[in-house]
Amino acid sequence: NDQQPLAGLNALITAGPTQEPLDPVRYITNHSTGKMGYALAQAAKALGAAVTLVSGPVALPEPTGVNVVQVLSAEDMFEAVQRRFASADIAVMAAAVGDFQPEHADAEKIKKQGRADLTVRLVSNPDILVWLGAHQRTDGSQALCGFAMETEDLIHNAAKKLLAKRCDMLVANDLREPGAGFATDTNVVTILTPAGNGKGSSGGENNGGADDDGADDNGVLNQQVH
Ligand code: C5P
Repeated sequence: NDQQPLAGLNALITAGPTQEPLDPVRYITNHSTGKMGYALAQAAKALGAAVTLVSGPVALPEPTGVNVVQVLSAEDMFEAVQRRFASADIAVMAAAVGDFQPEHADAEKIKKQGRADLTVRLVSNPDILVWLGAHQRTDGSQALCGFAMETEDLIHNAAKKLLAKRCDMLVANDLREPGAGFATDTNVVTILTPAGNGKGSSGGENNGGADDDGADDNGVLNQQVH
């Protein structure tokens, strides 16, 4: 109905940072607060969806009426999302997933005594969104939305991600834009959708890929939203 346009649909949303352990007391993470993903989960719930929120460690209260799955590392988040994707009609990957993890997490606390320096080798984490893009239902009945935060060439990089990760929509935000970036109560984004894609682009003005920002977007149309 009008108030609940997502009634009957399952939404799978990720939020927050991940923690990649170095030893039992230390980890590598990022500045994500989870605000964006939690707000999306609440909004999807209000629009009638059955929402599962896979969340990295954040300081936010769990939204009511939302199934919250708490995870720590990118690998944990990957497993949690993989298990739930087949039944998701909408997947919104708003988490700031760590791109790398220490190759080896020490079982004991790393000691500083006797060390002048310490080298930690990092290895790539699985890219959850890439996996989702490659494992979508073949009937096109799932909507897949990714996020991108960049410090340079935002639209160009976001357009590349949209296509490489086979998303229906990519929300691009600039770390340094006032009112956008980490830990803000507002966001300023550009929403990119693939040109000529029937789903997910309603309201967008399809200009056939000849968008006006001058970037080489490989047939991506975009739209500024505040
Ligand atoms: O390539 P980048 O990490 O900037 O892509 C951002 C998008 O990809 C976000 O939607 C993020 O949630 C998702 N992502 C992911 N798994 C990763 C890295 C990023 O799902 N390991």
